Amino acid sequence: MLQKKIILITCSSRSPRLNPFITDYIPVLLPKEDPTPYYQHATTRRWSSEIRKYDAVIFVAPQFNWSIPATLKNAIDFLCHEWNGKPTGIVSYGGHGGTKAAAHLQDITRGLKMKAIPTTPALTITLKTLKECIKHGRLDNELTQS
Ligand SMILES: Cc1cc2nc3c(=O)[nH]c(=O)nc-3n(C[C@H](O)[C@H](O)[C@H](O)COP(=O)(O)O)c2cc1C
Repeated sequence: MLQKKIILITCSSRSPRLNPFITDYIPVLLPKEDPTPYYQHATTRRWSSEIRKYDAVIFVAPQFNWSIPATLKNAIDFLCHEWNGKPTGIVSYGGHGGTKAAAHLQDITRGLKMKAIPTTPALTITLKTLKECIKHGRLDNELTQS
């Protein structure tokens, strides 16, 4: 694979200066085509190649405390260019449809320069929904007992 080299130029020469200190904090940009070899962890490399296989992404996200689950944000943050330009849809669910989670996720996907599908279905989860899931063997009975 063609290796890309990047130079960071410190654009201040006075003394004392802040520039070297700041330059240390500038992340080296990952190549857009295939950042995989640059990821430190095998799980990130696998996650990256998985997402790059697809042309579009649909997030099916519950609402946790007025936002998306932290695990989802973490999984998103592990990648970067992989999301860029991909069409994305959001289906949210929760006690009130998970609309706060959908709104946060819309902001996040906008920041990632994904192409948002404007319609975001929001499914309201009730006790009846849970009971139906249990009836069809999709959930543990404990969920309705708290
Ligand atoms: C930590 C936590 C926080 C939650 N916060 C909200 C919330 O803010 N609004 C809401 O409507 N539902 C909330 N819920 C309910 C979840 O959206 C609901 O339990 C959903 O079924 C979780 O998805 P899952 O069963 O696929 O994990 C919360 C659930 C958990 C566990």
